[in-house]
Amino acid sequence: MVRTFLFILAILICGQTTFGYPSVTSSSLQQHMQNFWQHESYWQIRRKLLLNEKQESLGGDLELSPIEAKANDVLMKAKKREIYDGFITGNTFLPSFNFMEVISKIEKSEVFKILHDMPKGAVLHAHESAMASFDYRFNNLTYRKNLYVCNKNGSVNLQFLKEPNNDCHWELLSNVRKNPARAKNINEKIKRSMTMITKNPKIKYDTVNKAWEKFNSIFGSLGYLSHRPAYEDLFYRNLQELYEDNVMYAEIRTTLSTLYDTYDGKSYEALEKAQLQKDVVDRFMKDHPDFIGVKIIYAPNRAVDQNKFDYYLKTLTKLKQHLPDFLAGFDLVGQEDKGKPLTEFADKLKSVDPSIPFFFHAGETNWNGESTDLNLFDAILLNTKRIGHGYALTKHPLLWKFAQQSNIAVEVCPISNQVLGLVEDMRNHPAASLFAKGSPVVVSNDDPGFWGAKGLTYDFYEAFMGIMSANSDLRSLKQLAMNSLIYSSMNNEEKKEALSQWQVKWDAYIFELAKSA
Ligand SMILES: *[C@@H]1O[C@H](CO)[C@@H](O)[C@H](O)[C@H]1NC(C)=O
Ligand SMILES: *[C@@H]1O[C@H](CO)[C@@H](O)[C@H](O)[C@H]1NC(C)=O
Ligand SMILES: [Zn+2]
Repeated sequence: MVRTFLFILAILICGQTTFGYPSVTSSSLQQHMQNFWQHESYWQIRRKLLLNEKQESLGGDLELSPIEAKANDVLMKAKKREIYDGFITGNTFLPSFNFMEVISKIEKSEVFKILHDMPKGAVLHAHESAMASFDYRFNNLTYRKNLYVCNKNGSVNLQFLKEPNNDCHWELLSNVRKNPARAKNINEKIKRSMTMITKNPKIKYDTVNKAWEKFNSIFGSLGYLSHRPAYEDLFYRNLQELYEDNVMYAEIRTTLSTLYDTYDGKSYEALEKAQLQKDVVDRFMKDHPDFIGVKIIYAPNRAVDQNKFDYYLKTLTKLKQHLPDFLAGFDLVGQEDKGKPLTEFADKLKSVDPSIPFFFHAGETNWNGESTDLNLFDAILLNTKRIGHGYALTKHPLLWKFAQQSNIAVEVCPISNQVLGLVEDMRNHPAASLFAKGSPVVVSNDDPGFWGAKGLTYDFYEAFMGIMSANSDLRSLKQLAMNSLIYSSMNNEEKKEALSQWQVKWDAYIFELAKSA
């Protein structure tokens, strides 16, 4: 109630002010044009305009120290070389391809290596069961004891079972693998069931719905993760892969679906599962003292009826009561175009305890003016703290401006948007405008394990090389890293501490990078 009221008030106030930003820029442009005919030279004005644009863009007001400037030279030499190659030949520019076709080429890029080493701050948009790499799932999890396999309805099911039951023709996977021919066959099938990777993604996923069908089928094949030991190891591995990718903090979306212990028959409902997650995090932090932490965003599926939704809110209250520091807030997941729009739940959501923030997925769509696109209005009216994807935000100048003024960060997940069919060529990604305007943004990885990525670097690569200007440099990257801590759910004290720990890593990184000049 209070939350919404304050918000409407803010909108009204905002509506009364004039739209200073664009008009200042355009009137100064007119001024420039007049000067052009009077005393300033064409080239002076041109330089000024370019400078103006650079200053307004993400990180544009950061001053680089002399050693940062040197590191920047190394970075920009590599970036310019790679972009120039693509610009001249027209067919080698990696961000113009579907990510899944160029993964191994990206890994060979000099810029990629520089980005890998960079302390990137935090991942603020990722889903628990889709983070750890395919390599870990396949080469580790599927080689464990008591993993059974069955073919159901044309797709592979993997489950840890004490005793196989009769609902499927279960076979012990390790037995199937003893026969080389069957092993080859089943391994192929498992691989195909675990990722979106395919020979020609542009043809296979030629519509958003086809991409989402496959994407959902991967979630549907995660039966092996409902087994407690496998889930805990996967959760640990999620953090390990971020850590190895120079990420120091994460806010992880979790559905908190029921977990089972196949051996002792115990089951773990939402609150107990969250406690298990927290135990894994605590263990991870003991093993890695320079990792600064994890919070969870409770994010169950949006395609539910009102009864189920009431259950979500009850669960949310319990989580807040018992794990107040571990819980960052609430969100809903699942394809927006197919699931329920926020309007279905808005009346209930607006009476949620205002000390529980929202992090809604909104505007993850190509549609303009449809219910999924209008989710952006509801997310903002419900006082969302950040916007998940916000792919459609720039189509709504008023909301965009409001988000910018209220420091509502957009969680941009470039590769996810491409793999799930919103954009083919990263150069057409709408976040280019967010970066150019210096809007509050973070770059995140969403579901890296489902498309052959690992950690955060791949998404930084696409954002830096494909979406930002060719002239965006170390300043933009530094701002992105800092943004990920600034727009996190840590409190001010924690943020200060996090930023200072990050700064130490940053300085060491810059020192090394500058040395390679
Ligand atoms: C799987 O990973 C765990 C750590 O999560 C490790 O202890 C184990 O040895 C690995 N097993 C296989 C089969 O690689
Ligand atoms: C089997 O697959 C068909 C089509 O793919 C689907 O409509 C049906 O619901 C599936 N049945 C089960 C039991 O999963
Ligand atoms: Zn997401």
